[in-house]
Amino acid sequence: MKPTVFIAHPIPEIGIDRLRKRFEVSVHPEIRPMAPEVMIRKMADCSAVISLLCDRIDAPLLDQCPGLKIIANHAVGYENIDVAAANERGVLVTHTPGVLTHATAEIAFALLITLTRRIIEADRFTRKGLFIGWDPLLLRGDELAGRTIGIIGMGRIGRDMARKCRAFDMTILYHNRHPVDSETEKALDARYVSLDELLARSDALSIHAPATPETRHLIDAAAFAKMKPGAYLINAARGEIVHEAALAEALASGKIKGAGLDVYEFEPKITEALLDMKNVVLLPHIGSATREARDRMSAMAADNVIAALEGRKPPNLVPEMADLSP
Ligand code: DGY
Repeated sequence: MKPTVFIAHPIPEIGIDRLRKRFEVSVHPEIRPMAPEVMIRKMADCSAVISLLCDRIDAPLLDQCPGLKIIANHAVGYENIDVAAANERGVLVTHTPGVLTHATAEIAFALLITLTRRIIEADRFTRKGLFIGWDPLLLRGDELAGRTIGIIGMGRIGRDMARKCRAFDMTILYHNRHPVDSETEKALDARYVSLDELLARSDALSIHAPATPETRHLIDAAAFAKMKPGAYLINAARGEIVHEAALAEALASGKIKGAGLDVYEFEPKITEALLDMKNVVLLPHIGSATREARDRMSAMAADNVIAALEGRKPPNLVPEMADLSP
């Protein structure tokens, strides 16, 4: 009998096709998260699962899946999976690093320029028929050139964001758990500073850190108070890093000038107050949503499953498991 693979939501065909050539594959047709009892029913007899960030995979669930060999997350983040519990039960965990770097940095940069040049407001204004002629006072925004971007998290995506901002003649400051090596700093023309200095000096802050207990609410009311007045906030990383009620307050009080968000603290729910603010751009977690990136994610998740079920070491084990022998 062929091993069975459960794909917890629809994903691009490329990965599904690869798996169908080798295994019994079932795809749950809905994007909404499954109730835990449905997850158990669907996964109980599987050898592999391809999961999304909305699928909570924890010890009680894993205990119901004795034949499970691999959880291949269709995302670079994997905070939805209890990796220690998987490790204890001999279940491999993989993710999709490297293939969505450009796409995600592009969306962060798009949020930045959309806010600073008031693109959404301008589009609405034009569609309403309000454009009556070139107007020297109309919809003036903020120029990026010469301003300072503060990057929180200098991994692959943060570095790519730095490159994009550099190309627009911005000054690059960053904060990270550790400074990156000096060659990378030089290549990016980026300078490491403390979080407080980053908050105080950045005209725009862009978050590119993972969701961890340390980064939860890193940007809270106290952080907003330290930000340069009139700065912008961009978050295309994880919603939990920003205290969303404090963000709404900082926007309402005019402490910060605008926010561009692709992710939310209580995703998919969005703090009500943000919905009516003109100086906020809201996207539905589409950082990696290019055809190229999503195809690569699907193919990568499938290749990880294939390797695991054929007895090889999957190429993209999560860092906590990267040292496992094949
Ligand atoms: C990820 O991969 O972690 C993103 O948030 C979805 O692309």
